[in-house]
Amino acid sequence: MSESSTTEAGAASAPAQTSEEVLVLDFGGQYSQLIARRIRECGVFAELLPSTTPVEVIRERAPKALVLSGGPASVYEPGAPPFPTELLDLEIPMLGVCYGMQAMVKALGGRVEGAEAGEFGRTELTLRGGGGRLLGGLPEEQSCWMSHRDTVFEPPEGFAALASSPGSPVAACELPERGLYGIQFHPEVVHTPYGTEVLTRFLREIAGCEQGWSPESVIAEQVAKVKAQVGDGRVICGLSGGVDSSVAALLVHRAVGERLTCVFVDHGLMRLNEGEQVVEAFGRFGIPLVRVDAEERFLARLAGVDDPERKRKIIGEEFIRVFEEEAAKLEDVRYLVQGTLYSDVIESGGSDGADTIKSHHNVGGLPEDLDFELVEPLRMLFKDEVRVVGAELDLPERMVWRQPFPGPGLAIRIVGGEVTKERLDILRAADAILQEEIRAAELYRRLWQSFCVLPVVRSVGVQGDGRTYAYPIVIRAVTSDDAMTADWARLPYDLLERVSSRIINEIRGVNRVALDISSKPPATIEWE
Ligand code: XMP
Repeated sequence: MSESSTTEAGAASAPAQTSEEVLVLDFGGQYSQLIARRIRECGVFAELLPSTTPVEVIRERAPKALVLSGGPASVYEPGAPPFPTELLDLEIPMLGVCYGMQAMVKALGGRVEGAEAGEFGRTELTLRGGGGRLLGGLPEEQSCWMSHRDTVFEPPEGFAALASSPGSPVAACELPERGLYGIQFHPEVVHTPYGTEVLTRFLREIAGCEQGWSPESVIAEQVAKVKAQVGDGRVICGLSGGVDSSVAALLVHRAVGERLTCVFVDHGLMRLNEGEQVVEAFGRFGIPLVRVDAEERFLARLAGVDDPERKRKIIGEEFIRVFEEEAAKLEDVRYLVQGTLYSDVIESGGSDGADTIKSHHNVGGLPEDLDFELVEPLRMLFKDEVRVVGAELDLPERMVWRQPFPGPGLAIRIVGGEVTKERLDILRAADAILQEEIRAAELYRRLWQSFCVLPVVRSVGVQGDGRTYAYPIVIRAVTSDDAMTADWARLPYDLLERVSSRIINEIRGVNRVALDISSKPPATIEWE
């Protein structure tokens, strides 16, 4: 890849992505982020803002359309977030989803009431009067996914009712002359087969949005932004081996080339060959990389410690110390790359601007007094978009799809005793076998995480003619969408059998393999 040609092309073709955007106003719905992601999947840039965002702020952003999300409140509850009627003055197309539709309908004089029974889950939808502008041409009967108790019984004056379901006399309505649309069902979930079609129709045909959002456009835009921010300054990036910091580094490298230096602190708590993979991948791109072999330092500080929170604290502090030492060796570095994602931005209140250092697990939580200006090229991206951008930037598949790995690494998977080199080596070897077999069974991407845990206890076994007294290894594999909840993965028995026999046969010091079959809650994913 030629540095100059890609950066030039990037700057020249950077689209004004944010001038063609849709704003999703969040009324607290469980799926609000998903609405924004789905809109982006339709090729249109979408951002999420709180439903309380002042209308003046929205006007300044000049969105092409607004989507009002669902929410947990009842429109009649005291304190329920109201429909901001001043939005109507903006005269832009607006789509209310679930609570968003109910709030709009109520504010405009329609009838919304609590129904005897709500509708939850798969529901049959029947079009009325041909389905109008929003639903016309779709099958007369279709299934959709609902989650509501309040129900629209009559649309506001002038609105046409477009569909009904067994529990919703008005499951969709519209007033095209004023660009107002509402649907009771959730178009963003996969259980609504025509959901994407409905969104696409609203975005393209009704709001006239162009398809300008793509991995290529993200790369071009972010490269241009970083160039503008950094000028001819020097930049440092802490690499963890995870997809976020890797993609952030690649984007910044496209923008500033050799003026980026990456620092990879190898704390000795990584998985097998992980450090080598990072060095090789970044070497391929010709990115200046400092690998700090800090295993001894970390192990010395962890000696005698078995309390989980102390381990985390020690590892975090040591990481900062090493990082600061390396940064001090580089001259004139003013900028620090952070792999902050859009979900972090939303969680921290959606503030704009790159002015705070967020506590970021994978770089050990850098303190606020580090004297750097932050460069955050992933601030507008969801995790799955980061992976798409990573693949587009030729990041090796193994790194693009890496399962989440905690910043304190294998240290928090050795439980109930001190972290030693011997135990780390056993755990690393067991983990490598598990990963190899899971990849061979093509299950790696379907699992949120899969790893081994080494409880510091010994049990009796028999191998050959001798009695053994050795560690167990626990296999932990979970499925999850966001790590907030997780289910233990039903791994095939033959896979478990292979993993168990390989771990016991190939690794000295292990004589037993167990499987963790707890979900989160009440367990957590990691053991500490
Ligand atoms: P738990 O164990 O709380 O984990 O269910 C949820 C997710 O967070 C990861 N995790 C960590 N990541 N530093 C990190 O960078 C940590 O100290 C840490 N603890 C847990 C865990 O791997 C899972 O994905």
